[in-house]
Amino acid sequence: MTKASALIAAAGSGERLGRGVNKAFVEVAGRPILAHTLAVFEACDAVDEIVIVTGERDMEAASELVRRFGFAKVAAVAAGGEHRQDSVRNGLGKANRDIIAIHDAARPMVTCEIIESSINKAAEMGACVAAVPVIDTIKFVSGEIVGSTIDRTSLYLVQTPQTFRADIICRAYEAAYRDGVYATDDAALVERLGEPVAIVEGSYDNIKITTPSDLAIAQCRIVNCLSPTPLALSSAEERGAYRRAAGVRIGLGMDVHVFAEGRRLILGGVEIPHDRGLAGHSDADVVLHAIADALLGAAALGDIGAHFPDTDPAYKGISSLTLLARVRDLLAQAGYSIVNIDTVVICERPKIAPHSEEMRRRIADCLGIDASCVSIKATTTERLGFLGRGEGIACEAVAVVLRQARDATDTPKP
Ligand code: CTP
Ligand code: MG
Repeated sequence: MTKASALIAAAGSGERLGRGVNKAFVEVAGRPILAHTLAVFEACDAVDEIVIVTGERDMEAASELVRRFGFAKVAAVAAGGEHRQDSVRNGLGKANRDIIAIHDAARPMVTCEIIESSINKAAEMGACVAAVPVIDTIKFVSGEIVGSTIDRTSLYLVQTPQTFRADIICRAYEAAYRDGVYATDDAALVERLGEPVAIVEGSYDNIKITTPSDLAIAQCRIVNCLSPTPLALSSAEERGAYRRAAGVRIGLGMDVHVFAEGRRLILGGVEIPHDRGLAGHSDADVVLHAIADALLGAAALGDIGAHFPDTDPAYKGISSLTLLARVRDLLAQAGYSIVNIDTVVICERPKIAPHSEEMRRRIADCLGIDASCVSIKATTTERLGFLGRGEGIACEAVAVVLRQARDATDTPKP
């Protein structure tokens, strides 16, 4: 098997990501982007050594990251330059193998298959780039007016790795600096020499994390194992960090209220005609209370008793829809979005089914989710126990929420 050096370009400033730091150190699923990327190269048999190029002031952090994750193939950490091309040039001086795979640290969703096929292709052809066919229609635009539609059948989106025989890429870089040429990728410098550059199949998932929405995509794919990096899944400790940083969480809620004469019966935000209502400090909406507790529980944010004490006159007679809206806001502030809610209302009377559609709509509107994500079911206890004797109504609820972590330092707040 051909053995190659990997050169990981990680010396940018991540301006478009807007975090004020080199994005290689921004975390996705509990680990720095650079660590995810390095983990793929570390796991790839065709990669013999790794050279990291990073900003002067990030070199210690990069070395520390290598130690922390035990990346044994990293042979050197080099200082970057003003432009990516300057950074790669510095790294080339440290790479020792006959084949060099140049890769953006900002593409952590590269796979071992892509790296290996690019190394093999470079060994055969001298130079290659990972690329995918353009899917969208491309138009040539002049001012704000479309000039023409470009035939996309031979257009490709070029990614990294870009892999070369060492003598070819070194010659291309020497020529570029001699001629004062800066290009947007490494292959363009090889093309200038008249050398053929082949393509190998990249992947639409091999995105370069550039904007906040790219970061969200990578986070979602890595957390949900749609693009698992070897790093994120390699140990129980890492899996723990991965789950803490983001993911799906479940919460459970339960409430009971006793019937009382002379009160209106409010369930799921809907007034239901009945001979009695439920006793309580608020409107005693047992369904909404169970849902609120399930949501708070999913986010580990305490319970409704702690947030809205029944000793506080402010909550006397309050509509529980108002309380539920506050719970919704608490979850949103903590970075959670609501996936779905299921409930079971337990009572002998009244019949819940005729009102369940209206309840679903009210709850969904209050939480800002679709009614298809709210389920209201009902059952009796076959006349057993206090509910069977018609003394009150109980409700159980479960809620599933998704934590949208921006990075692992942004862990759920207790
Ligand atoms: N890069 C580099 N040296 C530079 C500039 C960029 O090594 N002087 C690296 C980046 O770290 C990144 C890759 O090249 O992994 C692709 O560049 P880009 O996505 O543009 O990253 P940044 O330059 O960091 O981002 P921005 O342009 O938004 O500032
Ligand atoms: Mg840049």
